Amino acid sequence: MCYAIPGKVVEIKKNIALIDYYGEKRKVLNENREVRIGDYIYAQGGIILNKIPEKEALEILDFWREKFQELKKIDKKISKINKTESSENLLKILQRVNKNQELTKEEMSYILNINNENELKLLYETANNQRQKHNDNACCVHGIIEFSNYCKNNCHYCGIRRDSKVERYRMSPEEIIKTAENAVKNLGFKALVLQSGEDFYYDEEKLTQIVKELKKLEILIFLSIGVRSKKTYANLYEAGARAILMRFETSNKELFEKLRPETNFEERISLIKYLKEIGYVVATGFLIGLPNETENDAINNILLTKKLDADMYSLGPFIPCIGTPLEKSSLVNKDKVLKIIALSRLTNLDAKILVTTALETLDKKTKKLGLLSGGNSLMINVTPKKYKELYSIYPNKAGTKNEVEEEIKSTLDLLYSLGRAPTDLGI
Ligand code: 5AD
Ligand code: SF4
Repeated sequence: MCYAIPGKVVEIKKNIALIDYYGEKRKVLNENREVRIGDYIYAQGGIILNKIPEKEALEILDFWREKFQELKKIDKKISKINKTESSENLLKILQRVNKNQELTKEEMSYILNINNENELKLLYETANNQRQKHNDNACCVHGIIEFSNYCKNNCHYCGIRRDSKVERYRMSPEEIIKTAENAVKNLGFKALVLQSGEDFYYDEEKLTQIVKELKKLEILIFLSIGVRSKKTYANLYEAGARAILMRFETSNKELFEKLRPETNFEERISLIKYLKEIGYVVATGFLIGLPNETENDAINNILLTKKLDADMYSLGPFIPCIGTPLEKSSLVNKDKVLKIIALSRLTNLDAKILVTTALETLDKKTKKLGLLSGGNSLMINVTPKKYKELYSIYPNKAGTKNEVEEEIKSTLDLLYSLGRAPTDLGI
């Protein structure tokens, strides 16, 4: 199985290389001085990971050639826009998207208020069509290891907050490395997210050691470990980490500080900006449907993700969790989430947009619907089974009870049925 296909280097200008994938050209960052024009490489998240021998590359490319073209055809067919009755207003807005024009807040609000079946259908189809036009059928599939559920914070919405009475666990650095090795060597992942609560048991030294070991696997290393000093993040970049997953959670400062006691909105935003500046691939975004969140907040969430120049959007519904201060809140409606995914796509045609596990938890079918509303990125949980259930940020997390092999199989089946290639071809 393969989560990345090899590409051929056709041009190198300073640290940017142009890569050819069956005639499709993508730009990637090249930090490897040994890479030359004509070499075959693997890239993820827009970064060259490693060179591979030509013979091996050609064999893999031969194997994928037909499948690749076949998938592209399916995707093209599915992502056509069907004629539907719709209001002049919506047609005008969608035409502006077609012309690459930025939507106004009023237009965004119009979209969030659609509730007529035909218009919803047209919205989702247009978002999917734009996704296809600008990103083709590639869909990143990253693995995620939830390595600790300890957290020093007490976010009102989160099931592993400091005051939660859940059973806690920490994976040792050796266990993390073994899990990663298995995910890469036996399951085929090329990018891994290391996620935990804000747990300072893993200090800079431990994290550096883990990152250095994982770098040997020649994968894209994503960190999702919360707020640390800028210096620590710079050192972890030096050690080999290249991507960060850090949601700003909500663009509403008051709501942020109310729901995330002892944390600071500006500090988080400034950290996300800094991480982007020093070269990390940045995945950021927000929760959908937090209590007291207004429509204007939802619009600002989408705009802030864009302003932060997110390489990947990570957004998902807030799911009330028993034992937290927000346990009695109401569950967000699935169309609201899909509308926000679609609107995120219409306001950022090139971004990778993650269809998160929380969305799937809301309703089994929404993973597919998310991919058909502008989404083009997924994560598969590769945490050892005994820990998976304990990482209970919200209840009934999808996929917790499944074996990872089952999860991979059903994800690939879904992607193939939609004509998507489970690969990350870069920027
Ligand atoms: N529902 C959905 N997502 C949640 N997160 C935390 N608690 C919940 C919840 N109840 C999300 C946060 C955080 C990510 C790791 O988990 O957005 O960034
Ligand atoms: Fe900790 Fe993140 Fe949960 Fe907040 S959302 S309590 S920072 S794990």
